[in-house]
Amino acid sequence: MRAAVLLLLAAALACGQDVLTRGANLYNQTCANGYCHGPRGVGGSAPRLAARGFSEEYISQTVRRGIPGTAMPAFGTTLPRGEVGMIVAYVASLNGIAPSRNPVREAEPEKKLPAEAARGRELFFDAVRGFGRCATCHETDGMGIPVASPIAKVPASAAELRSLATPQVRTMTAADESFPALVVSQGSKQVKVFDLTSPPPVLRTFASGAVTVKEGSQWRHASVLAVYNDSELSAILDFLRAVAHP
Ligand code: HEC
Repeated sequence: MRAAVLLLLAAALACGQDVLTRGANLYNQTCANGYCHGPRGVGGSAPRLAARGFSEEYISQTVRRGIPGTAMPAFGTTLPRGEVGMIVAYVASLNGIAPSRNPVREAEPEKKLPAEAARGRELFFDAVRGFGRCATCHETDGMGIPVASPIAKVPASAAELRSLATPQVRTMTAADESFPALVVSQGSKQVKVFDLTSPPPVLRTFASGAVTVKEGSQWRHASVLAVYNDSELSAILDFLRAVAHP
């Protein structure tokens, strides 16, 4: 029994290694040339990718969807899904994340949704909207960046979404600046916050004694929804209802 478990473990590890080796080869061909991210993610003309503390979701989303307005293309539309999965696993390994997922599983088609909800999903992750897209700050259906906590209550209408109150957003004052902040953690030594001044939110760390955090903020959720019209927002709400886990 024990031996069987060990064998299975060894097989899983070997499989993970194989994914990483293939991911490394694909990375070297696709991402590592002198103009881009460099061998083993050390950086070139494009940013360093190794040891950046990226999460697997973030890497996955960025590789698939690209970064609008930059030289980073959306490989999700040009490479087979299995290959994208292996590249993601490799870049994740450069950030200390063991290959957890099976890239072959990632190659499965996305869950079938009713037409309007499917349109909403496209819009939620739409790279063309730049950092205004919902996925810049919300993780849903296993994709996107979880800046805000998971969406617990889906607003009934576009109007309700536009007038959403955001009680968690506070005003942080540091040495010579004051900005809207979403507190990630607050300890006796350090405070970690997302600075919401302009999208994308930036994760910042301060010494606890050097800052004050006050309730309330001038920040409005509506300010980041400007890239969508009402019909698009109601499609997005359909999508959120379809994937919500009550
Ligand atoms: C720039 C970041 C950002 C973008 C872009 C953004 N949001 Fe948000 N959203 C937030 C923050 C921050 C909160 C949480 C504020 C709070 O809880 O006080 C929030 C809260 C929400 C909530 C309420 C969550 C709950 O559980 O009640 C919903 C719903 C929501 N957003 C939907 C959307 C949708 C849909 C989009 C795209 C059309 C979007 N958001 C785009 C930052 C963003």
